[in-house]
Order: sequence, then C-alpha cells, then structure tokens
Amino acid sequence: MSSEVRMAQDAGVAMDTQCIRAALADAGTRQTPAICFVDVMKSFGERHVQDHQTFSVQAGELFAIIGPSGTGKSVTLKLIAGLLRPDAGEVRVLGKTLSELSSKELSQLRRRIGFLFQGGALLGWKTLAENVALPLQEHGRLTANEIEARVQAALAEVGLKDAGELYPAEVSGGMLKRAAFARAIIENPEILLFDEPTSGLDPVMAYTIDSLVRKINRAHHAACVVVTHDMAGALRYADRIAFLKDGRFLIVDTPEAIRQSDLPEIQSFLNPEQTEVSHV
Ligand SMILES: Nc1ncnc2c1ncn2[C@@H]1O[C@H](COP(=O)(O)OP(=O)(O)O)[C@@H](O)[C@H]1O
Ligand SMILES: [Mg+2]
Repeated sequence: MSSEVRMAQDAGVAMDTQCIRAALADAGTRQTPAICFVDVMKSFGERHVQDHQTFSVQAGELFAIIGPSGTGKSVTLKLIAGLLRPDAGEVRVLGKTLSELSSKELSQLRRRIGFLFQGGALLGWKTLAENVALPLQEHGRLTANEIEARVQAALAEVGLKDAGELYPAEVSGGMLKRAAFARAIIENPEILLFDEPTSGLDPVMAYTIDSLVRKINRAHHAACVVVTHDMAGALRYADRIAFLKDGRFLIVDTPEAIRQSDLPEIQSFLNPEQTEVSHV
C-alpha cells in the first residue's frame, strides 16, 4: 500500500482502497468522492462503452464529460444513476456500492440524484409548475402548500418566476430546459447529472444555460456531471474536463491543462476547423 493511500485511510476516509486510489490518482484529494468508478466495464455486443474506466467526482465539483457521439457519455450518467449496471467493476455513489443495494435502497439513493435527461422531457399536458412538482408528489411526504412553496422557489432559482402556469408548448426551448432544471433540483440532490443541457439551443441561450449549471452547482454544492459536445462552454464553467474515447477517459484535467493539451482528439474539439477527419 502506498504512503498516500495509508494517509488517506488515516484521515478517516471511509471507503475501500481502490476507491481511495481512484480519488488520489484523479483529483489529488483525500475526500470521500461523491461518485467513484473503479475498473468499470460495460459493453453492448462487441461495443465496449466502458473499458476499465476509473475516475471520481468530488462533492461540489463540476465535472464535464466531452467526447464524440456514441462513445458512452450518456451510458456513464446512467451507470451513476443506477439505471444501467456495469458488466464488471464497481460504481460507488455517495459512499454506497450500487451493486450491493436492494431495489428499495437504490430508489432511495436515486432521490439524492437529479437527472436532466437528454431532451429534457416534460409532460406536455401539465404546466411547468406541475412538471416541477412531480418528483415531490411521487414521494408524498409534503403538504400541497409545502410543495407549492418548493416549486415556486425552484422556478425562481432558474429564472422562471412567473412562468409556472404556462404549458410546455407555450414556451421557448431555453425555458423548457430551465423547467427541466427546476425539476432536477426540486429535491435538493447531492448529485446532479446533466445530459447535453445545451443541445438544440442557440449560442446565447446555451451561454445562459451554462451559467445556470454553474450557479446551481455552486448554490447546492452538488457534485455535477455535465455531458456535452460544447468544449467552449465546458472550458468556461467546469472544474475538470474528461474526454471520453473508446470507453475510457483519454485525459481528465482542469480547463487550463485541457487548453494546452496537444492530444489530437482535444485539438479537434478546440479547433474543429483545423481537424483532419481521421481524429474524430
Ligand atoms: N440500452 C442500450 N442497448 C444497446 N446499446 C446501447 C444502449 N445504450 C447505449 N447503447 C450504445 O452504446 C453506445 C454509447 O451510447 P451513448 O452513451 O448513448 O453515447 P453518447 O456518447 O452519444 O451519449 C452507442 O453505440 C449506443 O448505441
Ligand atoms: Mg448521449
């Protein structure tokens, strides 16, 4: 055992050695990570979308995952949320090993995770406020007044203070995303997963949504994982950026380091106009 790992254990960090190694290798930190993948494997047929994947994300960190389409970015988020199971390896979330949880324990854990799905998916026959209220109503612990207060606070937080009574068909794409954000944060999750939050938006709206991701990350001190194609956005707001290719992160580093990387795959996202097609 290395002295670093021993130090981490001495510091009272309650997690297994592999997870400590992943956190140390990854972030140079001795905190218990909010999310930890240890040697995770996941394949669909011949296609390896997680290939010995090891990484961790800390509480309060904004972690962006970039990569070409079809490389397993959405699958990574689904593994974190326990919507998919790894073929091998371990996914630990908020100190729990997902494969060891009963389905009841898994659904309890999921309530601590907010998921903004690709596309946002609001129910068209419910108002924005009713859509945002759904997760609270499902769990049935709060009174109607308490739910209303929480919904109004969440709508205000995403800049939709007066739009709660509108229906999805009546609002812009940016407002739909905001409402989906409000629904994702309504239960004060410790982990927030955003799948392509700016896809399909114009650059100005994308900028506003990026800023909202950052604001929510800071306000809730949640571990946020944002899957995106938008390198410029990720460079602006992420604490760390991971580039996914062939089931593994080629690089996980700060925006400053990513900017200076000469990996051709990174260059192709930084300067798409100068890229040879073979790198993409
Ligand atoms: N449930 C599934 N069943 C079969 N194949 C899947 C499933 N989910 C994802 N895949 C495949 O895994 C690969 C990665 O998918 P995904 O994570 O959605 O990519 P992206 O990086 O674009 O988000 C794709 O080739 C996709 O077809
Ligand atoms: Mg995807």
